[in-house]
Amino acid sequence: MRLQLFLVLVVLTCVLSKPLKKNEEQKKLLLVSFDGFRWDYDQDVDTPHLDQLVVDGVKAKYITPPMLTMTSPSHFTTITGRWVEDHEVVHNMMFNVTTNQKLPHKETMKRSEWWDNGVLPLWITAQNQGLKTASFHYPGGGATYRGQAVNRVLVEEHGFPDDNETEWRLNIDMVMSWFSEEDFHLVTLYYGEPDNVGHAKGPDHPDRIKIIQQIDRTIGYLREAIEYHNLTDSLNVIITSDHGMTTIKKRPQVDEIILNKYLNLLKLASFEILDYGGFGILTPRTGKEQEVIDALSKAPNLTVYRKDEIPESFHLGKSERLPPVVVMADLGFNLNSRLIVYVNKGDHGFHNGEMDMKTIFRAFGPSFKRNFVSEPFDSIHIYPLMCKLLQVEPAPHNGSLAVTEDMLWSRGESAGVSITLLLLLSMLSVS
Ligand SMILES: *[C@@H]1O[C@H](CO)[C@@H](O)[C@H](O)[C@H]1NC(C)=O
Ligand SMILES: *[C@@H]1O[C@H](CO)[C@@H](O)[C@H](O)[C@H]1NC(C)=O
Ligand SMILES: *[C@@H]1O[C@H](CO)[C@@H](O)[C@H](O)[C@H]1NC(C)=O
Ligand SMILES: *[C@@H]1O[C@H](CO)[C@@H](O)[C@H](O)[C@H]1NC(C)=O
Ligand SMILES: *[C@@H]1O[C@H](CO)[C@@H](O)[C@H](O)[C@H]1NC(C)=O
Ligand SMILES: [Zn+2]
Repeated sequence: MRLQLFLVLVVLTCVLSKPLKKNEEQKKLLLVSFDGFRWDYDQDVDTPHLDQLVVDGVKAKYITPPMLTMTSPSHFTTITGRWVEDHEVVHNMMFNVTTNQKLPHKETMKRSEWWDNGVLPLWITAQNQGLKTASFHYPGGGATYRGQAVNRVLVEEHGFPDDNETEWRLNIDMVMSWFSEEDFHLVTLYYGEPDNVGHAKGPDHPDRIKIIQQIDRTIGYLREAIEYHNLTDSLNVIITSDHGMTTIKKRPQVDEIILNKYLNLLKLASFEILDYGGFGILTPRTGKEQEVIDALSKAPNLTVYRKDEIPESFHLGKSERLPPVVVMADLGFNLNSRLIVYVNKGDHGFHNGEMDMKTIFRAFGPSFKRNFVSEPFDSIHIYPLMCKLLQVEPAPHNGSLAVTEDMLWSRGESAGVSITLLLLLSMLSVS
């Protein structure tokens, strides 16, 4: 009897002290983004590693990106927890409506004047609280914020091969060594696929299946690398994306939109970004705003918004940078301006309520429950979750930890497990 009691105490001490010790340790966090991973891309493909993650961690049924379902705006919402109207990264292209200058997405990566609009991304907030952070190709990581750079930055160069599986693995090896040898606390790792394949071939093409299988193998590799680097008990991982993808509707299935049929763009607009998927922006010439709105209101398969009439739920209208007129095409329609030069077979930029724009959320690691399926949520809530995981005091943000904290073990729950064990053991020792 006395021996049994002694054993109970020994076991209890182990059970109770382990989670407590873990809570005190500074956990590390890896945020991985696979651009353009639609929420259901894994459902018609054999994905053993993603399937295993459902058992070993957390899966959300899907998540909703912010309105303006494009790479830079959406990634920046994830890393700031702010709506697009607040962080002001209102397109993939950087533009100036006065000079008509436009820079393509990849050329914006080091342009701080595009990213640094007063809202601090998590890298900087975490660094200011003593953590070490890095960005591997993640949009916004290459800029400085109030003069401050991310501790370590790799910026994706033009012409970078997005789908080289060997390089994907080398990237993981490098990131793992940052965590294990250099004690980085937060790394954001970005991959340009499956977005490229989705654009070039369309979401229903067999090549999309192939790239999802490649991503799945990469996730398997990531998990092996975590074990190899002894990071299993200290590294939390979130795998997510910025938006989905939909098939572009073409002739003869539909009459494609050609905006110049409805308004003389040259005469009525001084600035425009069109021919870029489902989202377009325009600056009407002086006194021509009503004419632009009237003309576009008559065009089929799109909705035109005066900036000050954009529904509040879009969280876009308060942007200072956004031009006065916004055009949103119905799902699958491209906003062609004058000609149909558009070659993409798939695209995004459509309303974030469309299922085809929804994207993925997976997570695993010591702080996450296992076998936990979360209801859908907005990607803006990832930010406070990341702050909680890193024990960082968040900057002002628009997310809510209440939405996601059920995914995490809480002290109460680990104590609950211990108490159950205690009861079980004392029952055993009495008998
Ligand atoms: C656009 O360019 C003009 C002329 O160079 C400059 O004065 C203005 O500040 C720029 N606007 C923005 C928003 O960068
Ligand atoms: C992929 O990357 C590896 C490592 O950088 C390189 O050796 C190989 O040539 C690349 N393959 C292709 C097809 O570009
Ligand atoms: C992981 O831990 C084992 C056992 O302590 C050690 O032998 C090994 O070198 C470690 N691996 C790395 C990559 O640090
Ligand atoms: C596009 O607009 C036309 C004209 O209003 C309409 O007949 C058609 O149903 C629309 N197409 C789709 C796919 O909504
Ligand atoms: C988002 O958060 C910022 C900072 O706290 C706040 O100023 C803004 O009003 C919030 N937006 C909404 C729609 O609540
Ligand atoms: Zn894209």
